[in-house]
Amino acid sequence: MPPKVRGVLIAGNWKMNYGPKETEAYFRAMAAQAPSLPSDKLRACLIPPAVSLATAQHLASQNPFPITIAAQNAHWELKGAFTGELSGPMLKEIGLSTVLIGHSERRQFFGETDETVRKRADSLIAQGFEVILCIGETRAEREAHQTEAVLRRQLDEGVSAAALSSGKLIIAYEPVWAIGTGLTATPGQAQEAHAFIRGHLKKTHGAIADKIVILYGGSVTPENIDSLLACPDVDGGLVGGASLKPESFLALLSKVGRTFW
Ligand code: PGA
Repeated sequence: MPPKVRGVLIAGNWKMNYGPKETEAYFRAMAAQAPSLPSDKLRACLIPPAVSLATAQHLASQNPFPITIAAQNAHWELKGAFTGELSGPMLKEIGLSTVLIGHSERRQFFGETDETVRKRADSLIAQGFEVILCIGETRAEREAHQTEAVLRRQLDEGVSAAALSSGKLIIAYEPVWAIGTGLTATPGQAQEAHAFIRGHLKKTHGAIADKIVILYGGSVTPENIDSLLACPDVDGGLVGGASLKPESFLALLSKVGRTFW
């Protein structure tokens, strides 16, 4: 297996699942089965819904292995009349330092655009947060051979030079047709898209592109994670369904640990 030069990040996106009680049960089950992580180069992250963030952050501090808790979204303004939104300062107050931005479900169902993605990412990074910024094409766009054009637009309009050079930006490539469908991109398709993303960032922003962590998301499981991570430009996984059971989230981490370290 190729060495993972940028380390590996496995991030579990719970989406609209698990209130505080279920979060407690999850962490309890995880602690009971938890192996210690085999390497400080393997990083674990969970992304619970807003109402469970404080509980998860508290439980993470007692978890047998280090785990980062991230929010699923946050606004670019620091406070104000933005009903339903969360601000960076609120997330900082409960100890968070990572936020997911621009998930395809936000783009599809809640009007998120490349412009709002950039505003959120830039503001949060300026506030010191690490940002996981999602991009990816729909099935119709792939079938119309628009994948590269879509990724180019999402990068050009959604990712600023300041975000890229901050060292705080992680990109998640999530082909929308692979999310929650069981249709994982093949390692070949994932590598092609990841290499395109890195190559485009290199063209537009230079050598910093080699340092950017690029996660793959879309029906990642303990069974397919190794073949995806065998791709040189895949630096980790953004995992939905397979992060919902502690045993499968742990299976993902142990599989990666066993294969790469
Ligand atoms: P999935 O979701 O693993 O259930 O396909 C991935 C995501 O939406 O982040």
